[in-house]
Amino acid sequence: MDATIVLNKSREFLQHTNDPEAASGAIELLRDVIRFHEHRYYVMNDPLIADGEFDALFKLLEKIESLHPELIQPDSPTQRVGPGMTKQFQTVQHLVPMLSLENSYNAEDLIDWDRKARELSGLPSLEYCVEPKFDGASISLIYENDRLARGATRGDGVEGEEITLNLKQIKSLPLTAPFSAYGIKQAEIRGEVLMNKHNFIRFNEQMAEHNLPPLANPRNAASGSLRIKDATLVGKRNLEAFIYQLAFVNATDSTQLPHSHGASIDMLWDLGFRSPKHEKKILSGIQDVIDYCTAYENKRDDLPYEIDGLVIKVNAVELQEKLGMTTHHPRWAIAYKFKARQATSILLNVEFQVGRTGSITPVAKIQPVPIGGVTVTSISLHNQDFIREKDIRLGDTVLVERAGDVIPYIVKSFPELRKGSEAPIQFPTQCPACTSNLVKSEEEAVWRCVNESCPAQVIERIIHFTSKDAMDIRGLGEANIRKFNELGWLTDIPSIYTLPFDAIRSLEGFGAKSATNLEEAIRKSTTQPLHRLINALGIRYVGETTAKTIAQSIHHLLDLAEMDQEALQHMEDVGTKVAESIHHFFHQPRNIAMLKELETMGLQLTSTKKEAVQGSLSGKTFLFTGTLTELKRSEAEALAEAQGGKILSGVSSKLDFLIVGEDAGSKLEKAKKIPSIKILSEGEFLKMMR
Ligand code: IVH
Repeated sequence: MDATIVLNKSREFLQHTNDPEAASGAIELLRDVIRFHEHRYYVMNDPLIADGEFDALFKLLEKIESLHPELIQPDSPTQRVGPGMTKQFQTVQHLVPMLSLENSYNAEDLIDWDRKARELSGLPSLEYCVEPKFDGASISLIYENDRLARGATRGDGVEGEEITLNLKQIKSLPLTAPFSAYGIKQAEIRGEVLMNKHNFIRFNEQMAEHNLPPLANPRNAASGSLRIKDATLVGKRNLEAFIYQLAFVNATDSTQLPHSHGASIDMLWDLGFRSPKHEKKILSGIQDVIDYCTAYENKRDDLPYEIDGLVIKVNAVELQEKLGMTTHHPRWAIAYKFKARQATSILLNVEFQVGRTGSITPVAKIQPVPIGGVTVTSISLHNQDFIREKDIRLGDTVLVERAGDVIPYIVKSFPELRKGSEAPIQFPTQCPACTSNLVKSEEEAVWRCVNESCPAQVIERIIHFTSKDAMDIRGLGEANIRKFNELGWLTDIPSIYTLPFDAIRSLEGFGAKSATNLEEAIRKSTTQPLHRLINALGIRYVGETTAKTIAQSIHHLLDLAEMDQEALQHMEDVGTKVAESIHHFFHQPRNIAMLKELETMGLQLTSTKKEAVQGSLSGKTFLFTGTLTELKRSEAEALAEAQGGKILSGVSSKLDFLIVGEDAGSKLEKAKKIPSIKILSEGEFLKMMR
C-alpha cells in the first residue's frame, strides 16, 4: 500500500479509537494498515507514525475483534499471541534438509574453494553474493497459501522442533506474505533469529538484577528464548529475524521464480521479510570477495547485532544446482569466519568483591589474553553455583569468550588438562571489606554482607548513584569517589551534594577546570527526572526499566513509603520479589531520612509525568481490582486513560472510582470504608466509557 494512503487511513482510524463500531466495517483495511506499520517498524526500521499512535490502532483492532469474535482471523496482527502454553515441542521434518556451511578462515581457503567451484561449473570466473553470517539460532518457516503454517528450529538438520507459536511473536516475521503473486503455493524459507546487542545487554542486566547468572552471548539468548514454553514471554525478549534463503518452493508458474540468490533476497524483501537486501553485495571473482571480507571484519562491531563472518554464495541458481552438495554442506556456498572471540587462558587467582547490595562476587584473575582487540585480565564468576556447575578450579585452563561489546565470560574449564595442582576455590565466610559474617538465604545463590554501613557497599552505592544510566554525574568516576571517601568528604549519597570544592580545587592533580566541571555536573544532576533517581538508589531488583514504570505510577517518591506490598504489585513490572524489596527499602528510617535530605538539596522527587489526555474524565482517578471478564486490565486502564482518566495504584481518599471484577479482595473492603469512592462493576464502567 502507498505510504500516503496508509497515513490518511491511519488518521481516519485514529479518529475512531473510542468508537470501534464506526471502524468495524473496515476491519481488513485496519489490519492491513497495522501490518504496514509493523513492517515499517520491525523490518525497515523506519516507522511512519508515533509508537502511541500505533498502539492506539492496535487497541482499536483488538477492541473490534473482542466485540465481533467471529471476525477474528488467524493471521490478524492481534493473533501473534497464541492462547496457552506449549507443553512439549513436536518434532517435525524439514521439507528439504537444513545443511551446514563449509568454513574458511583466510584468503587461501577462499581461493581454493573458488578454484574448485570454477572447475565444477566450467567457467573462468564466478559471480558471488556475499552477505553477513548472522550469529543466532537458525529457523525454517513454511508458508502455505500465503500464510505462515509452521515454524521450526534447525534441530539435526533433517528434523527440528515445531515452534510456530513462539516464532509468531517475532514482529519482523509477517504472518502472511503474498507468495501466490509469484505463483508459489508453498514455500520453505530459512533464516536466523537474533537478539540484538542492546537487548542482550539489557537482558543480562535483568538477569543480574534477579541474581541469575548472565548468558554468554546473544546467540545463546536467541536459541534459549525460542524454546520458552510460554509464547507471551518470548514476545518480551524482542527477538528479530533475518531471512536469507528460499529453500524450497511448490510453484504453479516457475517462470516467475528468481534466477539468482541476490534476486531471491530481493523477492523475500518484497514479500515483507527482513532479508539482507541492504546488507548483501554482488561481486565478481574471488579477489574482490577476499578484499570485501577483510574490510568487512572491521565493521563487525558497528553492527547492532552479532555476526561471526560472511557467507559467500554462488549467485546463479542454475550454477548452484550444477555444483550440488555433499551430505554436510552445499558446494555453492562457504562461510568466511572472522577471528574467534574465544581464547584459552589460565585462572591465576580469585578475588571477592562486595557489591552495592552486599552481594559477594567472585572475580577471576586470568593470565592476560587478547580477544577481539581487547586484553582480558579479569572476569566475573557470578556466584558459587556458577563455579560449581562449571567445575572451575584455581590453576585451571579456561575457555574465555568476549562477544562484541559484551563483558567477558568463562565458557568452561578443561578438567582434562589438569596437572594435579589445581585447587578448589574457597569462598570467604567473612566480608573482605568489613569482616562481618556473610549470610546466604535458601532461595539465593549469592552470599551477602548484611552490614549496611559496610564501607565497600557505601562506595559501590555512590558509584552506582553517579553512573551514566543513573544520575550521570560525569567527572565523579570511581577513582575520585574512592579518593574523596578516603579524605572523609564522601561518606554517603547526600554528601555528594556538599563536597568541599575549595578543598578539591587545591587537591594535587585536580585542575580548577575539572573541579568546576564536576561542581556543574553535580548541580545539573539535581534536575534529573525521577526515574533516574529511582534507578540511582540501587534498590534490589529495581533497574532502569522498572524505575521508569514506577516513576510513571507515582507523584512523589515518598508515595512508595505509603504503599503496602499489594499496592506496589499493581504497578507494571512489579512482582512479589520487587514489591518486597521496594517495601523493605522504604521502611528503613535511614533511607527515608536520606531521601528527605536529598529533597532539601533540590533533587527532583516528584514525577514529571506527561500531561494526561484531556477528555470527559480529566482529573478523575481509577483503580481496577479483581478479575475483569470483558477486558484485560491493561485494556480497561487504557480506555480510562484515553478519556483523560488517571490510574492509581492503591486505595486512598484520592481515588474516585474503584472498578470491581470477580473475586475482589482487600481493596474493595478498604474502598467501602471511604465514602467518596464510587464502586462500579465492570459493566457499569464500560457503560461510562461509551
Ligand atoms: S545459508 C545451505 N546464509 O550459518 C546453506 N546461513 O553453519 C545454508 N547462517 O545453520 C545456510 N547467516 O544458521 C546462510 N546469510 C546466511 C547465514 C547463514 C547465518 C547460519 C545458518 C547455518 C549456519 C551454517
